[in-house]
Order: sequence, then structure tokens, then C-alpha cells
Amino acid sequence: MKKSSVSLQVLKGAEIQPYINIIAELRLLIFREYPYLYEGNFQDERNYLKMYYQSEKSFVILALDGKKIIGTATGVSFDRTPPEFRKTFSKNKIPIEGIFYSGELILLKEYRNKGIGSRLYEELEKLIRGKYKKIAICELTKTKKDPKRPKDYVPSDIFWSKKGFIRYRQLTMYTPWKEIGGRKKIRHTLVFSLKDIK
Ligand SMILES: CC(C)(COP(=O)(O)OP(=O)(O)OC[C@H]1O[C@@H](n2cnc3c(N)ncnc32)[C@H](O)[C@@H]1OP(=O)(O)O)[C@@H](O)C(=O)NCCC(=O)NCCS
Repeated sequence: MKKSSVSLQVLKGAEIQPYINIIAELRLLIFREYPYLYEGNFQDERNYLKMYYQSEKSFVILALDGKKIIGTATGVSFDRTPPEFRKTFSKNKIPIEGIFYSGELILLKEYRNKGIGSRLYEELEKLIRGKYKKIAICELTKTKKDPKRPKDYVPSDIFWSKKGFIRYRQLTMYTPWKEIGGRKKIRHTLVFSLKDIK
């Protein structure tokens, strides 16, 4: 697979709806990996992903190898994100006006480390530049001492700091989900990072 053989397709608002199932499948597959270890279900995914096609202020970029969807970047105006996201900002007196939320940036394993993730992210940033002041991402954080951490694990904050994001520790949110093989939901710590895109 050559890097150049992967093409990008931009979808906006309602155009996203027909792709919701495939994005849900990608999320369910990729978020099974460390650090997420997320054991989700299809219906919850479909409900969560509604925010993209129910808003006209959203984008999904598909990465395609031929006709195969191998990854995606998603995003929506921050005022359309779930209430717990917005509450995290209001609690810290950070206004959400002018912020765009970059949601999923996910690629199938065999397509990583070839610059495709960067292409997806940069395309998303290009689409919103001039319309928004800041872009936000949210990352799951786990300690280095986590016994489940694979030896070769590279934390994604390296990727995001290379793209110019700064982590705001105070913008921390706790979300419970069941980890693979687990019996009950565990509280996970998610932290937002922001980048100025003026
Ligand atoms: C994060 C992800 C999209 C990056 O895409 P990618 O195509 O592999 O990244 P790129 O090849 O464009 O790499 C860009 C830079 O980030 C670094 N990088 C790539 N993946 C990284 C990772 N997982 N962690 C840290 N750094 C990473 C690369 O070394 C590269 O550095 P360079 O520009 O100095 O050479 C991809 O690894 C992925 O799908 N991961 C699983 C899902 C995930 O965690 N997504 C992020 C949160 S939703």
C-alpha cells in the first residue's frame, strides 16, 4: 500500500448519515486497543454518532484505500457535543463559542505510521480554519505504571503535541465504560487539549 493510494472524501452534516454504521464499526474495532480497551455496543455507538449528522456544523473525512474505508476524522462544533463535554468547559469558565471539536481520528492498524493520520487531521483543520478560533481534542489518560500497558505502546499525546495542541489538565472529564473482559464499568479519565487556529 503506497501512501498516495489512499484518498480522502469529505462529508458534511446530513451527508454523514449513510456512513454512521461503518464509523461505528471502526470505533468498536479500534477502541478495543490499548489504552481504550473499550467494549462498546453498536446501538450506543449509533446514538453517540448522531451528533455528527444531526448538525450542519460537522465534518467527517473518510480515508479510502480504493473503495475500502480504512479510517476517519470526525468533528463537530463544540456546542453540539454531549452535555458532559460542555459542562467540563463551563465549570472552568472557558467559553465554548468558536471551538470546534475534533472527535475520532482513527485508522486501521496496518495503515498507521504512513502519514495518513496527519493528512486526515490537516484536512479537517483546513476545513474549519477561518470559521473557528480553536480546535479541541479529548484524550484518555492512563499512568505509565498501568499494568495493562503494552511495552511498545506510544501514547497519542505525542501525535497531538506535534500538531500543536496544548493539554489543559483542568479540563478533565470522567467517563465510565466496561473494559474488555471486565464485569463492571470503570471510571476513565479524559483530558481536553486545545489549539489556536486563528
Ligand atoms: C493516532 C493515529 C490516527 C495517527 O495516525 P498515523 O497515520 O499513524 O500518524 P502519522 O503517520 O501521520 O504520524 C504523525 C506523527 O505522529 C507520530 N505518531 C503516529 N502515531 C502515533 C501514536 N499512536 N502515538 C504517538 N505518536 C504517533 C509519528 O511518529 C509521526 O511523527 P513525525 O511527523 O515526527 O514523523 C493512529 O495511530 C491511530 O489510528 N491510532 C489509534 C486510534 C487513536 O488512538 N486515535 C487518537 C484518538 S481518537
